[in-house]
Amino acid sequence: MQFETWTKALAELSIDCVAVGVHEDGELSTDARALDLRCREKLSRLAKRGDFSAKTGETWLVTDLEGVRAERVLLVGLGARNQAAKADITRKAWRRAVSAAISAATRTRIGSLALALPRPAMKALSDERLGRAVAELAGNTLYRVNDLKTAKKPRPHALTRVAVAVPAKAAQAVKKGFAQGAALANGSALMRNLANLPGNVCTPTYLGKTAEGLAKTHKSLKVKVLGLPEIKREKMGCFLAVTQGSEEPPRFIVIEHRHPKAKGAPVVLVGKGITFDTGGISLKDPPLMDEMKFDMSGAACVIGTMNTVAELNLPLNVVGLVAACENMPDGRAIKPGDIVTSAQGLTVEILNTDAEGRLVLCEALHYAKRYKPSAVIDMATLTGAIVVALGTHHTGVFANDDALAKELVDCGLAADDRAWHMPLTEEYGEQLKSNFADMANVAGRDGGSITAAAFLGKFTQGLSWAHLDIAGTSYQGGAGKGSTGRPSALLLEYLLRRAFTR
Ligand code: BES
Ligand code: MN
Ligand code: ZN
Repeated sequence: MQFETWTKALAELSIDCVAVGVHEDGELSTDARALDLRCREKLSRLAKRGDFSAKTGETWLVTDLEGVRAERVLLVGLGARNQAAKADITRKAWRRAVSAAISAATRTRIGSLALALPRPAMKALSDERLGRAVAELAGNTLYRVNDLKTAKKPRPHALTRVAVAVPAKAAQAVKKGFAQGAALANGSALMRNLANLPGNVCTPTYLGKTAEGLAKTHKSLKVKVLGLPEIKREKMGCFLAVTQGSEEPPRFIVIEHRHPKAKGAPVVLVGKGITFDTGGISLKDPPLMDEMKFDMSGAACVIGTMNTVAELNLPLNVVGLVAACENMPDGRAIKPGDIVTSAQGLTVEILNTDAEGRLVLCEALHYAKRYKPSAVIDMATLTGAIVVALGTHHTGVFANDDALAKELVDCGLAADDRAWHMPLTEEYGEQLKSNFADMANVAGRDGGSITAAAFLGKFTQGLSWAHLDIAGTSYQGGAGKGSTGRPSALLLEYLLRRAFTR
């Protein structure tokens, strides 16, 4: 997909389709009015007739307007006018309108589309973020699930060019945003493809191969994949405990992005890579168990984000760590009550083998210390409890550094990929007491997502660390079952800030 800016008069634009906005009260947006004057007010008559409701995201295609060079004009509903917002349109409505316009275009033979929608206030969306959002939304809208259906695929869409109307002085910033958004869309599509694959295809080995593939495309990346012998050598007892019941060999993946101009300690990203979570001997109930193929969403997000970072060649050192294995019941599987020793030296009593995510993550978090990182952020579909607490709208943020947590929440807001700061005080950690080991891996039902984070907290002393529980946000169940790509946008926002504003 090619993204462009243009400043010429709309009616003169040589393009397959021009998308303009219509408010719910039937009033045309400024750009729509300009076209309307060229075609003897055909558009305003059409809007007044009421066939087109102009609710947010609704579209109406008009063809062969006299006086307009483009063969098609797409009317895009902007919904009710927002009085509170300084501009006529909120960022949320704008995002829906952009997605709707691109989606409508893909259902036709339109090859090039100009977006002439009113923009939200500058404070809500800077020029650079506008460019990023257009490319990001285009990527999300054009994404097709990588299913394994054998039926003939529907005809591919024709859209190859999207142009955005902006004043000349904004063009440079918008173009910079396009590059960011396109890289984000690629990374997010990679994440989604990996997460959508079934557990028998996307194994730890497959994740390792995918990471090695990235190093072939991007010069800035160095990839190292540890197998069972190396993981044993690292004494990652908790990780080994989870993988011991599985026939699939585990992988510990290290992806390093180095930039010659980057100063200072790296940011380390850590991902939970359970390629299938049966619960182990503490077996899960059958309903929805298939969704546990998504239990490597954190790992997929790390791999996708490293791709984005490399594609943009961010002037920042970033390390991605992935601990990947299956959690299976077996004659050799860990049993409730088993005690294992982590690389850090702490002994852990595994009271519930379904609390396996924290066991693989704690080893990766300990491994991160060798980089003396400036910040460590882990991503994990860690608990059902976070879905009870926050639903599917906010990612849960836990941290031993309030400034880092606040920054991540801020980034989520700016990138429309929201997160919520959860408490993590020492009482929760005290709930992990064990009679037989330094700690247990579970602490009862109450505050389940917080005690899980508290477990990780025992392995992050001395680090500036945050944990994102993405169990509710990284994939959807039900009819639209599939990976969402979250929190890729939040993470990119964070990394861009680290690279360019400190
Ligand atoms: N992968 C699950 C968490 C999960 C649950 C993600 C539902 C997405 C949807 C995790 O490994 C798990 O099983 N957690 C347990 C922890 C419990 C045993 C303390 C849970 O949430 O029930
Ligand atoms: Mn589990
Ligand atoms: Zn799990």
